[in-house]
Amino acid sequence: MTGKKLGVGVLGAHTWAEKAHLPGYANDPRVDLVAVCDVVPERAAAMAKMFNIRKVYTKPEDLIADPEVQMVDVCTPTDTHYALGMAAIEAGKHVLCEKPIARSATEAFALARAAEAAKVRTKVGFTFRYSPALRQIRAWIEDGTLGEIFHIHGLEQNSQFLDPYFPLRQVPQGADFQPKHPIPMSIVGYGSHLVDLVRWMGGEYKAVVSSMSNYMVERTVRGYEGLQKINVDDGTVALVEFASGAQGMLQTSIVAVGNYPGIEIRVYGSKAAAVGRLVTERGIAETLHFATADKVEFEPVTLPDSHFPPGTSLRTEWRELYYRNLVRLWIGEILENRPPEGDFLDGARSQEIVDACVMAHVERRWVDLPLYPDA
Ligand SMILES: NC(=O)c1ccc[n+]([C@@H]2O[C@H](COP(=O)([O-])OP(=O)(O)OC[C@H]3O[C@@H](n4cnc5c(N)ncnc54)[C@H](O)[C@@H]3O)[C@@H](O)[C@H]2O)c1
Repeated sequence: MTGKKLGVGVLGAHTWAEKAHLPGYANDPRVDLVAVCDVVPERAAAMAKMFNIRKVYTKPEDLIADPEVQMVDVCTPTDTHYALGMAAIEAGKHVLCEKPIARSATEAFALARAAEAAKVRTKVGFTFRYSPALRQIRAWIEDGTLGEIFHIHGLEQNSQFLDPYFPLRQVPQGADFQPKHPIPMSIVGYGSHLVDLVRWMGGEYKAVVSSMSNYMVERTVRGYEGLQKINVDDGTVALVEFASGAQGMLQTSIVAVGNYPGIEIRVYGSKAAAVGRLVTERGIAETLHFATADKVEFEPVTLPDSHFPPGTSLRTEWRELYYRNLVRLWIGEILENRPPEGDFLDGARSQEIVDACVMAHVERRWVDLPLYPDA
């Protein structure tokens, strides 16, 4: 420990900042929580009090310009990410941004390239990369324990929006609610994580085919009165061909009965297989099971302490567990000059794959990747 601290400023002081980002910073002794900003002043003031943050801003440009802020955390609604992320990069700050990092893959690639040119570090809020179980699976892929990878299955599904009176968020203002094809919803909100997790495990995608479905014909939508007839994708399934030759199957759903976060990753290789299940049950955040070609019965695995931030366990609430791990590794990347992981280029690739899934559904065909080879 060098005693070096990183000055952090957080934009957006609402639900996800309170449950995930701020507990992550507040528990890391290498972080100096300099400032918080929200366009709703009471929210910023409440978070400053709760997490002992020194300065409160209501204009994001003031936080970004603060010389004590070395890293800007963008935890605001999706349609603000690009402008805030770009402003922070242009000010020479390191940036963490929630997913998706922009409204389109084109914008996301522009952010990644701008950060590269400005030589600043970036990180996407890909929460589940920081699950101890999924980090163990990834380590087994890297060290050859699983052998050649044949199949990867990824699910992100829970019942968050099964109740039509639970308002949909992140619907762009002025959107056409009844387009011919569903407005991408589960494939963006959940899919941006899932396609990234599966790419992290299986490498680059070669092609995808998919099907998107709407089940809840009427819903409440944040910012609108009463029930709305709205055609969104409540669930998407996709098949993947990886460049390596491996096969993948994906499902995202916001109407599948089950608890949060509802992620399951199964990886089957020539030597062994692993199943990580991130579904909080009986107070336990996640489980990992492992089988080998000789001993095909899956057995539970005890996860090594090194995958957990100090003071956490599988009984830590999942948002806090994963975000404390994300912050621990992210601060280490910056202060100890470690290789980047889950950065804006990964965020842009994730948006490109989501776009390919949507295109495959709309055009009823396999879509080759990369979609934007020059981006
Ligand atoms: N990684 C994950 O697993 C995960 C989970 C949940 C949410 N998220 C993402 O986190 C982000 C925040 O989610 P949330 O549920 O807290 O959203 P929210 O809408 O509840 O809160 C966002 C806050 O940002 C403030 N805000 C809006 N524009 C701003 C601006 N220009 N400058 C400063 N503040 C501004 C709003 O007033 C609000 O208080 C979203 O992008 C969401 O998609 C990610």
